Amino acid sequence: MANNNSLPSPIAKRLEGKVALVTGGASGIGAATARLFVQHGAKVTVADIQDNLGTSLVQEIGTEHIIFVHCNVAIESDVQNAVDATIAKFSKLDIMFSNAGTADKPNSSTILEVDYDIIKNVFDVNVAGSFFCAKHAARVMIPAKRGSIIFTASAATVVYGLVPHAYAASKSAVLGLSKNIGVELGKYGIKVNCVSPHYVGTPLTLNALGIDERQIAEKWFAEGGNLKGALLDEEEVAKAVLYLASDDSKYVSGLNLILDGGYSTTNVALSETNKKLFPPAATHQSSNEAV
Ligand SMILES: NC(=O)c1ccc[n+]([C@@H]2O[C@H](COP(=O)([O-])OP(=O)(O)OC[C@H]3O[C@@H](n4cnc5c(N)ncnc54)[C@H](O)[C@@H]3O)[C@@H](O)[C@H]2O)c1
Repeated sequence: MANNNSLPSPIAKRLEGKVALVTGGASGIGAATARLFVQHGAKVTVADIQDNLGTSLVQEIGTEHIIFVHCNVAIESDVQNAVDATIAKFSKLDIMFSNAGTADKPNSSTILEVDYDIIKNVFDVNVAGSFFCAKHAARVMIPAKRGSIIFTASAATVVYGLVPHAYAASKSAVLGLSKNIGVELGKYGIKVNCVSPHYVGTPLTLNALGIDERQIAEKWFAEGGNLKGALLDEEEVAKAVLYLASDDSKYVSGLNLILDGGYSTTNVALSETNKKLFPPAATHQSSNEAV
């Protein structure tokens, strides 16, 4: 008979004693992850360009657990400073969550309207920013011979045609970067993974889609999604990041953890077109139902 005392506590803190840096941590997925990390015992640095949001998050949680550092991830010295500030305050860095990101403007969804400014802005933040986060995390994790680097890529790394081109290309670059770095850093005990969410109604997504109200976007995501009765939100993404950050994923490296309710496994275009072009007659329907 199983001894109940040997069962792990459901409220066990999974990041006790760990220190994390979360870029893009003032809003959306980053803010939800910073909150969850603290709940699980981690000390956290939030690095973002939105100083007001970052500062109020710190006030809400308390400076003994979390600090805010102004950081534009596209500027290497800002990322270097965020890592150094983390070491100064909390003495080490175990987890780098490279999550800050930006999307194209909604009107850049056709290749004919893409210009260099759009490409440069998206790649500076999403790709160069990820390089800098990985580089400065590795700088302190290699001597420690441990660490977890997590990037927010996107479901756009496995499904195409849903998001603007520069954004899609940048997230595939992040995925490639993560896998390559994972090979280099494996020998130092550093795991490197991506979390790849489908749509979440954050400011980034609403701006990119040109939708004002989160509820409207969520109705669309729910109706178009594969997994019914569930909707992806920031907290759900944060739980996946917690898994990759914690020792629960000790032997997991090189993973692209896709959170899309199975959307990327579906292709309903032909069956939907069939329904539209050839709506079943009542007699047809009943004979189909009998099959
Ligand atoms: N929301 C989605 O549907 C979705 C899906 C897949 C991937 N993602 C990715 O998730 C990540 C987080 O986005 P979110 O959805 O939480 O949106 P969000 O707008 O709520 O948060 C993005 C955060 O990144 C910060 N940021 C932007 N540029 C920055 C820079 N140069 N330096 C530092 N911080 C910067 C913003 O200030 C903001 O706080 C992004 O990388 C995004 O591409 C989002």
